Amino acid sequence: MTVEVSVVILAAGQGTRMHSRLPKVLQPLAGQPLLGHVIATAEALKANKTCLVYGHGGEQVRELFVERDLVWVLQEEQLGTGHAVLQAMPEIDADQTVLILYGDVPLVRKETLASLVAAGSEQLAVLTAELDDPSGYGRIIRDIDDHLLAIVEEQDATDEQKALREINTGMMACPAGLLAGWLTRIVPDNKQSEYYLTDIIRRAVEDGTTVIPVRTDSVAEALGVNDKMQLAEMERLLRKRTSQALLEQGVTLVDPDRFDVRGYLTCGADVYIDINVVIEGQVEFGDNVTIGPNVIIRDTTIGSGTRVHANCVIERATIGGNCEIGPFARMRPGVEMSDQSKLGNFVEVKKSRIGRGSKVNHLSYIGDATIGEKVNIGAGTITCNYDGANKHQTIIGDGAFIGSGVELVAPVEIGPGATIGAGSTISKHAPSGELVIQRSRQQTIKGWKRPTKAPPGKSEK
Ligand code: UD1
Ligand code: CA
Repeated sequence: MTVEVSVVILAAGQGTRMHSRLPKVLQPLAGQPLLGHVIATAEALKANKTCLVYGHGGEQVRELFVERDLVWVLQEEQLGTGHAVLQAMPEIDADQTVLILYGDVPLVRKETLASLVAAGSEQLAVLTAELDDPSGYGRIIRDIDDHLLAIVEEQDATDEQKALREINTGMMACPAGLLAGWLTRIVPDNKQSEYYLTDIIRRAVEDGTTVIPVRTDSVAEALGVNDKMQLAEMERLLRKRTSQALLEQGVTLVDPDRFDVRGYLTCGADVYIDINVVIEGQVEFGDNVTIGPNVIIRDTTIGSGTRVHANCVIERATIGGNCEIGPFARMRPGVEMSDQSKLGNFVEVKKSRIGRGSKVNHLSYIGDATIGEKVNIGAGTITCNYDGANKHQTIIGDGAFIGSGVELVAPVEIGPGATIGAGSTISKHAPSGELVIQRSRQQTIKGWKRPTKAPPGKSEK
């Protein structure tokens, strides 16, 4: 961008229409607070400075975004959007173009903002949109020559004005010097007795400045979130936007309406994603990754050719190529799977490394374990990693074979190539290459009778 930009984000309002204890700008949209989306867009603009006007739920807001490069401006009393911008003006140099964003209007794109800034470098530019249902928004009032005259809030509008479908998105850009002058001339003479930012349009017109409407054709960009209904609608729109981008890139989504990305997903070529898949945080798929139905994946990398079958929950894992997972596998944080390894049905794994070509196929719990290459873990095997106070490690060498129903009481080490007999409870080192069994010999108790119930009426005493 050629002009020098300072951004002001308004985020001090309470958001009473949400009926929630969480401040409105922290309500989650696609897994991220509303305000997070706006801050990310502002960052993408590479502005000189981004001022965040905060107030309601202040500490909560600050805590969440403390690491971002923001100038924090406290608006102690929420006296209106005009008053909010005024609080930030001492932070802004006179030669800047000010871009005003709203913490509750999260889907605007940086390209749209760049054209708004370009239009507002010498005059006042306002981002407008035409909505089928404009209710709740400020209406754009134009004169007979189509020049912008004013913005009238819904509460203050006449029926005739309410019928207008061109609305104020809230976003504006203009030179800092002009803005500062207009802001001091705003008066709270409206139904809500607030200092409306939208009043600066009238002040600009009074000064003979042309106000430039920049129209966006994308309804999603214009939408503000005031209640839970609008939040749900926005979630739907964002889902559509994300799905579309993935489809365009060549990802197969069996049903784009039954697929959610609450974060970021990057995909290689020929990725296939079945229905009801939820992606959270940062997720990366290599080429030819297949994800079955009803799968949740959070902060995970999956290598090329890996298949995740139905109903798996995967969190903070690093998964190699050509692996197979599920159905019904649960991967808790901290699992590393090397290429060609396999986790089968009803297997829970936590903080463990699974070596190349190793298999944990059925009904197991593997926690705090390091499993070498080409290891076979039999059905129902459990690492007993917790002694009630501390967690302990299980180490299994390359090529070991663990029979079914084995308990590995950690800390314990199974040597490479060792075989553990089914049903054993192993608490001591199993030497490499040997067969280790821990179970009592099978016995037959001849003539033994099952206990029977006493006939009714007879006392058991
Ligand atoms: C505002 C606009 C309206 C526009 C709509 C777009 C005004 C007067 N009205 O209405 O024309 O169509 O947004 O979504 O500007 N805020 C503060 N301090 C305050 C008041 C609000 O920081 O004192 C913040 C809120 O946190 C919110 C934003 O400003 O992020 C907008 O406030 P809100 O009360 O939601 O305004 P709307 O009624 O939606
Ligand atoms: Ca709003």
